[in-house]
Amino acid sequence: MKKENEQAVLPKADTPFVQEKRIHLKQTDSTNEEAYRRGMEGAEEGTVVVADQQTAGRGRRGRSWYSASEDNLYLSLLLRPNLPLERASMITLVAAVAIKRGIEAVCGLRAKIKWPNDLLLGEQKVCGILTQLHIEAGKIGFLVLGIGINVNGKEFPEELEGLATTLQKQLGKAVDKQALEEQLLACWWQQYRLFLAKQNLSFLQEEYNAGLISRGRQVRVLQQNQELSGEALGINAVGELLVQCEDGHIEQIYAGEVSVRGIYGYV
Ligand code: BTN
Repeated sequence: MKKENEQAVLPKADTPFVQEKRIHLKQTDSTNEEAYRRGMEGAEEGTVVVADQQTAGRGRRGRSWYSASEDNLYLSLLLRPNLPLERASMITLVAAVAIKRGIEAVCGLRAKIKWPNDLLLGEQKVCGILTQLHIEAGKIGFLVLGIGINVNGKEFPEELEGLATTLQKQLGKAVDKQALEEQLLACWWQQYRLFLAKQNLSFLQEEYNAGLISRGRQVRVLQQNQELSGEALGINAVGELLVQCEDGHIEQIYAGEVSVRGIYGYV
């Protein structure tokens, strides 16, 4: 990756356990890809790549992420957690809570969480999280945590109209993007440290569930070889979504596409 559009490498103030090194780029293909490349070159935990624009922003499930607007936030963190592989997926749930806190602190807006890690405002998506794992010798080599927030962007592609929103739209005035970046990173490192100490989600389960949009609502879960529906109860301490089916039994959903009745066209 060419570095001529690199704006600055800013050594940030030490957090108690990680030296954050933030890199601001005017443009890149994807901050996740850039962070991943740096991870492969041995970059340290705490490397944060932020871009004004992405030319190939990536979303979950092979989708793209709208990244043309310089008014939105695109950033990725490189992490090297000392964590068993099977616990890696919890990191995105930790991030959801940290970002929710960051948004609330800067804008006063209370986002809802759509399991596992979309953030919604008024039932429209305002933030997406994409985690990429690099496994070395059966262990976590590193992990890239990518965060996209629709901040002050003026428009979306047609297919996202009605599905996505921005902080500005919800607040009725522009949001200080830099303040949001600072706040959400501060919230992130704080939550990440607690998570590494606990290695499960018990410390934020209540907060996560309080913000869960599907709690107490009908959901439909699409998994590789089954579909089920029921009432979402909340997450357990390892981040699985508990869904009570009509016959009363409770399914623990580890992965899958969850539709919430009333949201994104599920009626
Ligand atoms: C989703 O589909 O909800 C996840 C979207 C994640 C988008 C962010 S923007 C910054 C980082 N770089 C990418 O290419 N994707 C993530």
